[in-house]
Amino acid sequence: MNIVEIKPDIYWVGGIDWDIRNFHGYLTQRGTTYNAYLIIDKKITLVDTVKHYLFDELLSRIKEIVDPSKIDYIISNHVEMDHTGSLPKLLQICPNAKVITSTRGEKGLKRHYKKDWNFKVVQSGDTLNIGKRTLHFVHIPMVHWPDSMVTYIPSDKLLLPNDAFGQHIASSERFDDELEWGTLQEEAAKYYANIVMPYGDQVKKALAALDGLDIDMIAPSHGIIWRSYIPQILKEYQKWAAYESDDKALIVYDSMWGSTEKMAYALQDGLEESGIPVTMRNLRTNHISDIITDVLTSKMILLGSPTLNNTMLPTMGKFLTYLKGLRPKNRIGFVFGSYGWGGQAVGEIVKIVKDLSWDTPVDSVNLNYVPDEKELVDVKKTGEKLGKYLKK
Ligand code: FEO
Repeated sequence: MNIVEIKPDIYWVGGIDWDIRNFHGYLTQRGTTYNAYLIIDKKITLVDTVKHYLFDELLSRIKEIVDPSKIDYIISNHVEMDHTGSLPKLLQICPNAKVITSTRGEKGLKRHYKKDWNFKVVQSGDTLNIGKRTLHFVHIPMVHWPDSMVTYIPSDKLLLPNDAFGQHIASSERFDDELEWGTLQEEAAKYYANIVMPYGDQVKKALAALDGLDIDMIAPSHGIIWRSYIPQILKEYQKWAAYESDDKALIVYDSMWGSTEKMAYALQDGLEESGIPVTMRNLRTNHISDIITDVLTSKMILLGSPTLNNTMLPTMGKFLTYLKGLRPKNRIGFVFGSYGWGGQAVGEIVKIVKDLSWDTPVDSVNLNYVPDEKELVDVKKTGEKLGKYLKK
């Protein structure tokens, strides 16, 4: 098992999950890693563990450096089981190790594993001397769970922020400059959109708490370690946390007999005529976790569904349930659809858009059965109107 010394006497000893494609509903086409870091100092310290089924991988990496029974401290920055799943087995090997965590971390670990381990609770701002190094802890609640905290090592200029700044990428490379920035940006954006987006205000607070720290390496718990693109990823996080997006439109739709689809393409035509770039996402051919990444970067979101059984299509219902949970802010919304009778889908979607407090400058369009040529011209004009509004 390869281990990587990321700083003198600090080693990456995590696990690589090459096969995972579904991370609680999020499509992880590139797999992921669970990063754990071993610090060799007077007190041997492990920061986070790995998902339970990669325990052997973690253990064999630790064994290449040190006898695992000699671990003194295990820092648990975050309770979620992708980072704590190996704690029960590991603590059988080093039963005297202290588990360092936040107050909510202790509560969460007790609820998950029903064990009264040797806990040491740390508050935000607390420090722990492990020999040559002193570890600093900063709580960053809701990035990703209420228990989340970061570990910062000033002497190594190293930040271990757990989920924050992560990306779901399985690779044998460990550092950002070993992969393309475009790939990293895409996966970091997808990760932010699907995991962190609801907590923009908390991300802002976390960024403020970390501001001013002397950092030359950010080693998250998923994906690659940042050392060359730190200004770039911080800039992206500041933008996403402020719910800023680009002047482009995203059309998310499904269709039964092609009418709503015709409307979607007429809207695209009108928007493009106004000089607005458009991304088309058919719900039948795109995964909702990929569409959410487009939502993160698009200022205008157009949602289209015909009415089926007095409501919207199930694909749109599923997407909107996911969207409501992730709560993107500061967006312009527009709703369209077609119907035979009833026609309730459009109104139901409008209600959700209003619940999200999106701007809705143009009335929705709901057409009976199949749109004719004149109606499609009008839909195109609506697209132009939306485009002009977006360019304002
Ligand atoms: Fe990677 Fe919130 O766990």
